[in-house]
Amino acid sequence: MHALLWWGKCFALMSSTTEKIKEKLSIVDIVGSYIPIEKSGANLKARCPFHNEKTPSFYISPDRGSYYCFGCGAKGDIFSFVQEFESIDFVGALKMLAERAGVPLDEFKKTEKSENSGILEALEEACVYFQNNLKTETEALLYLKNRGLLIQTVNTWRVGFSKNDWRTLKQYLKGKGFSEEILEKAGLIKKAEGKESYDRFRGRIMFPIFDSAGRVIGFSGRILKSENPDEAKYLNSPETPVFEKSKLLYGYNFAKKAIREAGFVVLVEGQMDLLMSHQAGVLNTVASSGTAFTEDQAEILKRGADTLVIAYDADKAGQNASLRAWQIALKNGLMVKVAELPEGSDPADEVKKDAENWKKKIEIAPDVVSYFVGIMKGKEIKEKDLILKEKVLPLVKSVKSSIDRSRIIDKISFEAGVSTQALLEELDTISEIDTEEKQDDLKKREDKFGALRKARLMRFYLESKKSPFKDEFEKLFFELLPEEQNFKVENEEEFHFESEMYYADSKDIETVAKELLYLLEEEVLKKELEKTMERIRILEKGTSQEEAQVELLKCQEISKKLSGLRKKYSYNL
Ligand code: UTP
Ligand code: MN
Repeated sequence: MHALLWWGKCFALMSSTTEKIKEKLSIVDIVGSYIPIEKSGANLKARCPFHNEKTPSFYISPDRGSYYCFGCGAKGDIFSFVQEFESIDFVGALKMLAERAGVPLDEFKKTEKSENSGILEALEEACVYFQNNLKTETEALLYLKNRGLLIQTVNTWRVGFSKNDWRTLKQYLKGKGFSEEILEKAGLIKKAEGKESYDRFRGRIMFPIFDSAGRVIGFSGRILKSENPDEAKYLNSPETPVFEKSKLLYGYNFAKKAIREAGFVVLVEGQMDLLMSHQAGVLNTVASSGTAFTEDQAEILKRGADTLVIAYDADKAGQNASLRAWQIALKNGLMVKVAELPEGSDPADEVKKDAENWKKKIEIAPDVVSYFVGIMKGKEIKEKDLILKEKVLPLVKSVKSSIDRSRIIDKISFEAGVSTQALLEELDTISEIDTEEKQDDLKKREDKFGALRKARLMRFYLESKKSPFKDEFEKLFFELLPEEQNFKVENEEEFHFESEMYYADSKDIETVAKELLYLLEEEVLKKELEKTMERIRILEKGTSQEEAQVELLKCQEISKKLSGLRKKYSYNL
């Protein structure tokens, strides 16, 4: 068949499948199953799951089957929502929604032959193969049993075994029609210079790693019998087109529902920790599985939980990893608690010893500050100060909300017997370790969707509704920002959608418009004030006291304008 025709057919099949799914599922149900929705006039709104916000600016239109966030610009349909929320690709979202809608995907699967789908098929086949291997590996089975794993757990998590041979998997999968190229891309075999390629995983207990739709996207293999001390205890799949480590949390596919229900998440280090914790009934557990906890992971978890209970190994490496994870979690607005384990132990050990006790440990986990204050207790003053300066205060610095921060400072002050004043001064001397570009991105986005954009939308809306208030609005708007007279809408359709969504429910559009002008002018004036203040600071350092005086007068002028703003727009809070 001609390639274009083939693609055309593919596309037709794909779109008819998505249409079918869309017919069966309402966007309100889908979004509503992830986040609480409230009614707002003809539309529905929610607090946006894709950026931090206190007041809802995430609008859902049941008629259009779409959503739009005025805070961060996220928009789309049920597919893109699930894709973003679950951090999976389109096909993954399609699979999840098809299951929910009861629409079979077989036809779609047959035609959809992208490179990724070949890789995913190879990984799935490998998983089945490893699972079958395990059934006859008495030594591996005994090992798992001794670690405390039940056979149901082994089955649920699809644990398997890779034989201690060089090419058994490769041969098996080639026999199933997979090319070496695909197997290598899937991270299952390794190429060697001038030699025949061979299986990456050999003689290992295989833990498949799932994406949030439950598809196998990689493996982590634990050595069963170590013959070579240099060999890593755990060997993981490399990064592949389907395996992106920084966004992955092991166990998330099974844990996400429980995370949302509990409102908190338990973070452990390893595969064994994770399986054992789930086996103990702590279903909201995920594992960072050997990599450092990342901002992306924090963001994913934050969609379902507000608190992270860190349960890393109680050893030096675990403690260091925790510190970093704490910082990232706090910075991303998650509250952090610490499960306290006996020295040298890890969650897998704890569950094996006493599953109920493990649950208890999570229940009573103290928040991160109390945890440190606990550590400081009974220590010499000098050592206390060191913990405070090097561990606690950098963490406090990472806390996003200033209200939370001041609450924590009060608590430390109370428990550690140091004045809040001294703590605040010390905090000033600490520079934040990583100023992530993410923050900048968010700022940029905020700017884009700030008062200016809203005012532009308002202009557009008043015009399209032929509002009598339009001329007055434009007069005030252009007075404030003359350059706006040259502004051209790039995408009229989108602008229309946005302005409708934003303003169609307003009862008194004139008041809303004035409120907007008020906010806009306030923004402009505040920026001006900031700039002038900065100039004064510079001038005062030099010798130009007189110039500084002039700038100071300007400041007063701006302040006066600011305080007169409410009156100007007859805006009352
Ligand atoms: P640990 O060394 O604590 O392993 O590493 P563990 O989970 O207690 O191992 P078991 O219980 O003896 O089986 C914690 C996690 O770090 C990753 C793995 O995900 C492991 O579970 N890791 C560890 C690696 O990726 N590679 C390694 O060589 C070791
Ligand atoms: Mn461990």
